[in-house]
Amino acid sequence: MTVLPDALSADERYCADTFNGAVASAALSAAWEAGLLDELERARFLDAHAFAAGNAAHLNTLNAVLLALASRDIVAFDREKMHATPGPGFEEALRARGFFYWLTAGCAELFAGLPRLVRDPQRAQGGVRRDARAISIACRTIARSFFDPPFLDLIAQAPIGVVADLGCGSGDRIVMLAGHRPGLRAVGVDIAADAIAVATEAVEQAGYGDRITLVRDDVLALAAKPEYEHVDTLTCFLMGHDFWPRENCLKTLRRLREVFPNARNLILGDTCRSTGVPATGLPMFTLGFETAHAVMDTYLPTLAEWDALLEESDWEVVDRRMVDFPAFSFVYRLAPR
Ligand SMILES: C[S@@+](CC[C@H](N)C(=O)[O-])C[C@H]1O[C@@H](n2cnc3c(N)ncnc32)[C@H](O)[C@@H]1O
Repeated sequence: MTVLPDALSADERYCADTFNGAVASAALSAAWEAGLLDELERARFLDAHAFAAGNAAHLNTLNAVLLALASRDIVAFDREKMHATPGPGFEEALRARGFFYWLTAGCAELFAGLPRLVRDPQRAQGGVRRDARAISIACRTIARSFFDPPFLDLIAQAPIGVVADLGCGSGDRIVMLAGHRPGLRAVGVDIAADAIAVATEAVEQAGYGDRITLVRDDVLALAAKPEYEHVDTLTCFLMGHDFWPRENCLKTLRRLREVFPNARNLILGDTCRSTGVPATGLPMFTLGFETAHAVMDTYLPTLAEWDALLEESDWEVVDRRMVDFPAFSFVYRLAPR
């Protein structure tokens, strides 16, 4: 006998919603990448048949994606007509799409590998892999929406000649800065070849090849380079936690003073480990962020730990903005002490 949804007990419904949420998370990333979210945002209506034909998409998969989104009220979906419209959860899902992409595209292998990774002795046989390209694309959207506004506010009055973006990912920040400030030159530094590839595409597409240099380098082990000598402003977003644990972080911050002798500003923006929230009350992103870094054995400092460390470091906090979304995040402007 078929069990209808309203025949489920409250516990069964809750468990089904958890399962459906996992499917919908992957569907949201697919919907974004396929251009479906953009289309729904623009036209407020989507005919799956026409969309599949116009975008060389697989109709059955497209319908499954729309059904998964409908299960979480992100869209309203008429399965007979194959028509979708934005649901009550659409705007918030659109705003948070970068976090879903980070989770389901960037960290797919890590989460798929949890059953293996949780068993310590097997960790060495395959390690922990993430998709640097997908993460740089996810972080580009996250940074644009949530970190760039306070960042731009913090540097509004600061004269910047040459900027180095540490852990530059997609290169979006330096491309944006080059667009805002005609004389500005920039260096993007990242350890991941796939991130440098995304940044290279962005720089070429913007036509800033003469003003922006990309360097594949390890920010935790930098040595002086001609490209670094004239840098007056350092930026580092969403990778400051990689400086930790504490002693390493102090060492890296000290090293930045030596490698970038002319840097007058360091703009540091990051998300911290949560404190004081019960597991059932964890906000968007926090659980995924903390789980992924626990699996990778990356120490995540709390905001209080950052503040205490910066008190002792070679850099002094001269201005700050707190970021509410993602929770436990900050953007600080630091100056050499
Ligand atoms: C979470 S992403 C953030 C990307 C970018 N900063 C943004 O705001 O969109 C972190 C980036 O730091 C890079 N990264 C991590 N460890 C690094 C290291 N030791 N040296 C250089 N880059 C590193 C990663 O490859 C990744 O591109």
